[in-house]
Amino acid sequence: LAPITTSDLRAKKHAGEPIAMITAYDFPSAKLVEEAGAEMILVGDSLGMVVLGYDSTLPVTMDDMLHHTKAVTRAAKRAFVVADLPFLSYHGTVEEGVKNAGRLLQEGLAKAVKMEGGTELVPLVKRCVQAGIPVMGHIGLTPQAVHQLGGYKVQGRDLEAARRLMDEAEALQEAGIFSLVLECVPEEVAALISAKLDIPVIGIGAGSSCDGQVLVFHDLVGYASQLQPKFVKRYADVGTSIRDAVRDYVSEVKERRFPAPEHVFHAKEEMVSKLYG
Ligand code: KIV
Ligand code: NA
Repeated sequence: LAPITTSDLRAKKHAGEPIAMITAYDFPSAKLVEEAGAEMILVGDSLGMVVLGYDSTLPVTMDDMLHHTKAVTRAAKRAFVVADLPFLSYHGTVEEGVKNAGRLLQEGLAKAVKMEGGTELVPLVKRCVQAGIPVMGHIGLTPQAVHQLGGYKVQGRDLEAARRLMDEAEALQEAGIFSLVLECVPEEVAALISAKLDIPVIGIGAGSSCDGQVLVFHDLVGYASQLQPKFVKRYADVGTSIRDAVRDYVSEVKERRFPAPEHVFHAKEEMVSKLYG
């Protein structure tokens, strides 16, 4: 199957065919996600919380993102891989932002970058697009701004805030983003934004009318994820499977039931007799 492109994604929107996106942070998760048929993989800075154990996404660095993006792109041959620009890597000069975005493609081999924010990003988005770097926007709940937002809360609940989201979405599309993540906004607002934009709108906690959905891998499969927001659906409980498997191993080791005969190598008999004298 040919690798998925930004034009394939746009065609899916116009054909009314929903796009499935999921995060991945390493080789095995990316391989499974691709085999499962997701069109898009996000190397999210949620990495900081679900893989690295931080309380927020703020401590994640460019080095962290590059390290994990490289692992994901070694596995993903068909899915379109987007990598998050981490906190403060795109808030200085436009040049610095373009350089960091470019590293995620040049070194990480991602196909696109994602950045959180509204109209203030327009100059940076334009310069990235001019440089050939596809950019995905991310508005609504933007976790890198958690301290400013005062927590992980639904955004765009009043008329003024909803209109501001609409304006941001249109300004970003105008600047050249190829797709937009809408996080934690009322379904009615997300539906209107999805209908107004020409580019695919991928929702998380944004209802069923978006052009696609994205979830965090660890939340979806139940792999030791801490948060359980309303918008997450847990499709499996692999954490319990892993804990049970490791618990069985531990008790078999303690009872000398592992390794069993089929796991053991043997030396030739004449060698053994000489060895034991
Ligand atoms: O980092 C992440 O996982 C994300 C998604 C929740 C959209 O940005
Ligand atoms: Na993110």
